[in-house]
Amino acid sequence: MTEITYDFDTPIDRRHTASLKWDRYKDPDVLPMWVADMDFKSPPAVIQALHERVDHGIFGYSRPPASLVESTLYMLKERYQWDVRPEWLVWLPGLVTGLNVCCRAVGQPGDNIMTAVPVYPPFLTAPAFHRRSLTTVPLQEGEEGWHLDFNRMEKAITPKTRLFILCNPHNPVGRVFTKDELNQLVFFCEKHDLVICSDEIHCDLILDTAKTHFPTAMLDAAAHRTITLMAPSKTYNIAGLGCSFAIIPDGSLRKRFKLAKAGIVPDVNILAFVAADAALQYGEPWRLALIDYLRKNRNTVIRAIRDISGLTIKSIEATYLAWIDTRPAGIENPARFFEKAGVGLNDGKEFDGPGFVRLNFGCPKATLDIGLSKIADAMASI
Ligand SMILES: Cc1ncc(COP(=O)(O)O)c(C=O)c1O
Repeated sequence: MTEITYDFDTPIDRRHTASLKWDRYKDPDVLPMWVADMDFKSPPAVIQALHERVDHGIFGYSRPPASLVESTLYMLKERYQWDVRPEWLVWLPGLVTGLNVCCRAVGQPGDNIMTAVPVYPPFLTAPAFHRRSLTTVPLQEGEEGWHLDFNRMEKAITPKTRLFILCNPHNPVGRVFTKDELNQLVFFCEKHDLVICSDEIHCDLILDTAKTHFPTAMLDAAAHRTITLMAPSKTYNIAGLGCSFAIIPDGSLRKRFKLAKAGIVPDVNILAFVAADAALQYGEPWRLALIDYLRKNRNTVIRAIRDISGLTIKSIEATYLAWIDTRPAGIENPARFFEKAGVGLNDGKEFDGPGFVRLNFGCPKATLDIGLSKIADAMASI
């Protein structure tokens, strides 16, 4: 059998394509390495399925295709040994939508929501949109990686805390939480009767060969109190199309979730369904090749950053995001500093991680090398 190869190496011009990432900086010398989408074309099967659907020419209201439901359940079983029933799925036009619906569905206005920081910024903004307060607990910084700090979580819990929002694999620190850590978290949530919203959008991009993703809801004690959020969007680079889903095994929690989204959350659009379906049915060889490529990019990033005086980085177990610590260099506004040096990075402050920047290495190696050398030059100039 001939092995199919995919081209992740050739840079593709994304400027002036209405791209959030590439149209942000007016200065063409700033290389955008911020928001989490990749500079690779989606799998050929996805592009072909979209062509065919566009050629049909009619774009009326949509329903989740039966083949997508089937391929989603098959994927969950194959990758995670998780037996999910079709009625547990709730389709969503975005995962951030799902996060917000969770905040609305659990408890009442005036209640409290807990999360561990640094974290993906919408975790920090969603509670207030639904008149809930937010308690943030810093992740514990170990030699190699970051950990949930259960002592601090115990101290920070309030009688009004109803929901814990988890990011696993974790954006931005790149951890894949172990089954033991998740067991401890579920124990904590049981003790305080919290619902868990588990954002697992990055679960199909595990780079560390010693790690596997374990969905929190697969723990017996967690199933009835967990809303899992997943999507093919990060994995197959179809985030701009908008197709995500919640998995909610518990009937009454699912009812509350559906009620909270009723009338305000639109259905998923037809092209998003088609792309997701093709990605899950035919995209597996592409996904495996992508992980291989991202793993090499990750190694390049870690080597380069550790060679630069004033910057440090811990291991990255998953995602295409690198969480770079600039604190040893004492730079006042690191994101602005690097932008002036020609690299557009996310500002750690937005993640409740001041002193850090986040770099997206989901790009051709040649692009990554340019970004890393700009970072090295900027640091050498201090
Ligand atoms: C942890 C996490 N959740 C959600 C999202 C965004 O999901 P969506 O674009 O489907 O709203 C991202 C995107 O970077 C993310 O990293």
